[in-house]
Amino acid sequence: MAKKWAPESWRGLPIQQQPTYPDPAALTAVETKLRSYPPLVFAGEARSLKAQLAAVAAGKAFLLQGGDCAESFAEFHPDNIRDTFRVLLQMAVVLTFAGSSPVVKVGRMAGQFAKPRSEPTEKKNGQELPSYRGDNINGIEFTAEARVPDPQRMMQAYAQSAATLNLIRAFSHGGYSALRRVHNWNLGFVERSPQGERYRELANRISESLDFMEACGLTADTVPILRETNFYTSHEALHLGYEQAMTRVDSTTGDWYATSAHMLWIGDRTRQLDGAHVEFMRGVGNPVAFKAGPSLAPADFLKLLDTLNPANEAGRITVIARMGAEQVEAKLPALVRAAKREGRNVVWSCDPMHGNTIKASNGYKTRRVDQILLETKRFFAVHEAEGTYAGGVHFEMTGKDVTECLGGAQEITEQDLADRYHTHCDPRLNASQVLELAFLIADMLKRRRVSQGANKAVAAE
Ligand code: PEP
Ligand code: CO
Repeated sequence: MAKKWAPESWRGLPIQQQPTYPDPAALTAVETKLRSYPPLVFAGEARSLKAQLAAVAAGKAFLLQGGDCAESFAEFHPDNIRDTFRVLLQMAVVLTFAGSSPVVKVGRMAGQFAKPRSEPTEKKNGQELPSYRGDNINGIEFTAEARVPDPQRMMQAYAQSAATLNLIRAFSHGGYSALRRVHNWNLGFVERSPQGERYRELANRISESLDFMEACGLTADTVPILRETNFYTSHEALHLGYEQAMTRVDSTTGDWYATSAHMLWIGDRTRQLDGAHVEFMRGVGNPVAFKAGPSLAPADFLKLLDTLNPANEAGRITVIARMGAEQVEAKLPALVRAAKREGRNVVWSCDPMHGNTIKASNGYKTRRVDQILLETKRFFAVHEAEGTYAGGVHFEMTGKDVTECLGGAQEITEQDLADRYHTHCDPRLNASQVLELAFLIADMLKRRRVSQGANKAVAAE
């Protein structure tokens, strides 16, 4: 029998990566206030996402999860939200077309603020200060004042998440996402690139198909999916004080749901079996994920599945593998085999970002686009070899024309990094690099579809 769970049962357990607030009473006051604020998402939406993820686990859909490494107060602007959203739409369209199967769209948006850090402090010019932990905790400026955790920041993060989600809902259901607008999702700076051209050709084919369907009487007025889309939100459930305050009983089912986002994940640094983060996540009804890095042993992996998904419900768990291009072939098969052998229902997703972070010779934290593409290819190859389903991707991106990751068709060099390096945490793919990744995955999905079709035909003979 599992121990009893409550939204606060994580308190008192070993916990990693938490800030130390100088004024605990002020923290409690903020958490109490947040508890009375409206939920950001509704439990029924989280259940719809879980049902869609169950389709992914069954090999009938593909998960696309992406957005900022860290959202920030400074970059809070409607254009930024729109541009990230439209690049995700663009990528989704490319993948839907190639795979001929639905794409489940989940943003790292509207709540992705708290960051785990490799070091508790940061040193610069002989001064040592607490590390920046995300805008909902402390400030990024390298000053002693900014680095003090301030609970009021949670209020601002809540407000920004609510406004971001409001705009996302408007974009999803208010006409912006109508397939007829497929041409408009190409961003100016991408349009002139080879990927931009490839996208334009695809958009032309989609427009033609829409003309044909319209001639047959299937229009956006009669078929809602042509004028709107489902888009979900997610973030790392790192700041458990905030998450607990946003956890509510669903009046329909009587179950507890995290209402800060549709889907939450546990990071690679906080997935200890006896730790606070796993305890918190096991009790919420949302679809949840955890990151699986090279240090995760198959036995612990299975225990995590036992704890987080005792009923082996499909769609409940997404495993986000982030092994790094050089380790994925050595480390992933053991996990995939363990899950397969034990008949576990999981969505396998690939995060090709976090295992490929390097330091450029000029000090910038960066990633090479070719290593990102390589890890993605190898992830698909492992699943093909194991007879399992590569179900999704998880990556850090922005719609802005930033220079944070090296290479790609724009051939960004170490010298270029300084031009537009704006991230508050990890280096993100820009819209052009994202589209490159999208076309690479599209080719793999297409190949898989063709070979599955061929296998089916052989079986039918
Ligand atoms: C992240 O997703 O930003 C992150 C910190 O990832 P990981 O837990 O895999 O290191
Ligand atoms: Co990151």
